[in-house]
Amino acid sequence: MSETSASPSPSADPRARHQDLVQQVEEHRARYYGDDAPTISDAAYDALERELRDLEEAHPELVEPDSPTQLVGSARGETGFASVQHRERMMSLDNAFSLEDVAAWLARIGREAGDHQIVCEPKIDGLSISLTYERGELVRGVTRGDGTTGEDVTDNVRTIAGLPFTLAGDHVPELVEIRGEVYLPVEAFERLNEALLAEGKAPYANPRNTAAGSLRQKDPSVTATRPLAVTTYALGALEWGDREPHPRIGSQSGIYEVLAEWGLPVSAFSTVLRGLEPIEEYLSDLEAKRHDLVHEIDGAVLKVDDRAVQAELGSTSRAPRWAIAYKFPPEEVHTILEDIRVDVGRTGRVTPYGVMTPVLVAGSTVTYATLHNRHEVKRKGVRIGDTVVLRKAGDVIPEIVGPVVAARTGDEREWEMPEACPSCGTPLVEQKEGDKDLRCPNAQACPAQIVDRIAFIGSRGALDVEVLGEKAAAALVESGVLVNEARLFDLTEEDLRRVPMLVYEVDEKLTKKQVGEGVVGRKAGDVAENGRKLIANLDAAKAQPLWRVLVSLSIRHVGPTASRALATAFESMDAIRAASEEELAAVEGVGPVIAESVLRWFEEDWHVEIVDTWAAAGVRMADERDETVERTLEGLTVVATGSLEGFTRDSVKEAIISRGGKAASSVSKNTDYVVVGANAGSKAAKAESLGVPMLTEEQFEALLAGGPAAVDG
Ligand code: IVH
Repeated sequence: MSETSASPSPSADPRARHQDLVQQVEEHRARYYGDDAPTISDAAYDALERELRDLEEAHPELVEPDSPTQLVGSARGETGFASVQHRERMMSLDNAFSLEDVAAWLARIGREAGDHQIVCEPKIDGLSISLTYERGELVRGVTRGDGTTGEDVTDNVRTIAGLPFTLAGDHVPELVEIRGEVYLPVEAFERLNEALLAEGKAPYANPRNTAAGSLRQKDPSVTATRPLAVTTYALGALEWGDREPHPRIGSQSGIYEVLAEWGLPVSAFSTVLRGLEPIEEYLSDLEAKRHDLVHEIDGAVLKVDDRAVQAELGSTSRAPRWAIAYKFPPEEVHTILEDIRVDVGRTGRVTPYGVMTPVLVAGSTVTYATLHNRHEVKRKGVRIGDTVVLRKAGDVIPEIVGPVVAARTGDEREWEMPEACPSCGTPLVEQKEGDKDLRCPNAQACPAQIVDRIAFIGSRGALDVEVLGEKAAAALVESGVLVNEARLFDLTEEDLRRVPMLVYEVDEKLTKKQVGEGVVGRKAGDVAENGRKLIANLDAAKAQPLWRVLVSLSIRHVGPTASRALATAFESMDAIRAASEEELAAVEGVGPVIAESVLRWFEEDWHVEIVDTWAAAGVRMADERDETVERTLEGLTVVATGSLEGFTRDSVKEAIISRGGKAASSVSKNTDYVVVGANAGSKAAKAESLGVPMLTEEQFEALLAGGPAAVDG
């Protein structure tokens, strides 16, 4: 990984590598526990620490008492807080990075995976705290520090809402150290950052860092303004004096019941399981909902439930053997921003995007991420060569969060938005003054725009031509067979023979492959199967409805909704072309912006030529109204939601529109009916609250056939 130093070669001197690792781990640990922002990701840190541990296992002679592997957390001096010794050491946890690691741990602690009951709970990404209660009164709150000695942050801890000053219940010990995690709820973190941004100040890096900074404020009244929270999960020193020990503390799960009885916050997600399979299921469930919890979590903690077994298993100098932390794959990683390039889209919009050293994040390898526009690049403050934070939460599109400023070497360079189109060299312009986006105005001849427009015609939302994707579009343009989209529907096999991608090559390997695929007998230079398919599919696409043809023209602002509205209102391309701006704007769902865009589009001769050439090739330019379909929905607005058995999303709209109705996408008081399919969500709820009549699929069919009379009353 680029952010760690060179990986060790087997021949490297282990002592030198050890020294190097110790230094790196110490530096990053100091940042993690201190006020400085981290310069590497948690995952990269874990990798360094793991390597150090493995090295020390192989070379025990290298282990020193003050090696970071022997210490828990950070040992910091001078902090301004009083040092307090923990009565019982605060342990760390060993990590598992895979289900195999979890299985190996289960195998280590028992004869079989199902030997012991295991408490499974979220691993909260906060900072650990030890809370001392004497005779039920909160007397001290201490950070972990190096595990032996921490900082006295009692005054700050007392500001945490939900943390009782006095333990509830009548069975409380003489003295107890309660261990838990202090965190800043995600929502509070976001609010805090919004406020900072509004004041023009730099936002915090993450909730964990913010919580750490807040808890270590010199002035408790500042801490009090941060809505910190705490979850408790373990006991340290415990003295009952002359009282009987609480009967429920013989198990970890019992401890949680007791903590709750005392009025302390405990996790709502802990559960006791036995065996590998249920544990694996818990882990994947928890990962799936990791962003739905109030606090950030970075994994799960697995603990042997029976405390007698815990005692038997004991601890190493650093961590208990009876527990393990399972770490989720990281969603935020660091990588190098190698370059910023720009992409020219179908409408000429020029979009900068980052090219990064490929990196695995949340289960997939990411190399590119959009940077949206030149202002976003400025706002994020990223430079080429920067180490950047890359985020991909769940299935979300990867996002460059920002630079790791502390990791800069001075070799990074600022990026400048190009002044000319990288594809055709035309100076870029703002469409309107103050537009965020820059565009290449050379729509007619810019190769990048032409390729994108042609590929778009093939896309599912337009004419849906299989084989006509980005690659085929580029091949058609690069070979000179097409100069723009006008002659797309005139393509012949003869033409395709000039497109290398669509032709059999005289290539030994390829021929063998073709033999395998059963295409023996074809001569090199023949149009390949793909080419024939392309021509057949283009031919079939000519019969697509008018609205899809309109979408395919890439008129700005004219997407599927406006196209359907125009096609329904005018029924032919000629009528749309002949319509005045007022007539266009008067169509429901069109409006002045779209009307103007359509009008301007038809003013260009080369646009008109596209339409005329397509028409001459047989592309549908008018929707004959199917007289057999009765206009049963004239004047009605219908919304369909959820999945229906007999309709697709498109065909349901088609069915409504062809009968004279309006297919709307959101429910309002103007909606006449809402068709509710399986797994319908908020739209059904909204219909209910507005009192809009709801129809089943069967009732909808009745409505289509017979109009309102068939379903009302
Ligand atoms: S138990 C003896 N349970 O993770 C065991 N720790 O990486 C003590 N943490 O130092 C820890 N959530 O700060 C435990 N549910 C949980 C936890 C948890 C977060 C933290 C804790 C610990 C660190 C180890």
